[in-house]
Amino acid sequence: MIKLNINGEARSVDVDADTPLLWVIRDDIGLTGTKFGCGQALCGACTVHMDGQAVRSCQTMAGDVGDAKIVTIEGLVGADASKEGKAVQAAWRALDVVQCGYCQSGQMMSAAALLSENKKPTDDDIDAAMSGNVCRCATYHRVRAAIHDAAKRLEA
Ligand code: FES
Ligand code: FES
Repeated sequence: MIKLNINGEARSVDVDADTPLLWVIRDDIGLTGTKFGCGQALCGACTVHMDGQAVRSCQTMAGDVGDAKIVTIEGLVGADASKEGKAVQAAWRALDVVQCGYCQSGQMMSAAALLSENKKPTDDDIDAAMSGNVCRCATYHRVRAAIHDAAKRLEA
């Protein structure tokens, strides 16, 4: 049995230590907002926060999480959302960022992690922080604009 803290709740899951966190989140906990894209840390669709850092849950093993606090997209935009989570959600809506949507929970997780460390990211900061989040619909310009918009909301 592995104990995890996911979106502020203590969870116990009966999985092997080398089970990717992505499958625990989706299959055992039932939070399906976190997506599977490549399984190889190449696309960012599976991004979650681990103690505030954006990590690829497809390459994070359940047994390696320990006491770290995991936040998924459901936690980022839910009732207990952080200020960065609220700002990102509002900006994404205002700028109508989403196209098919598949990559977007990962995009939002990476954006919120960036804003929690850098309140006023430049285009270069954004491009560096978001380079691991691939979008087949090429929403990159809107993602970048929405991060600037979220930064302004956080300033207000
Ligand atoms: S599914 Fe994890 S990075 Fe692509
Ligand atoms: S919105 Fe379709 S893959 Fe990014």
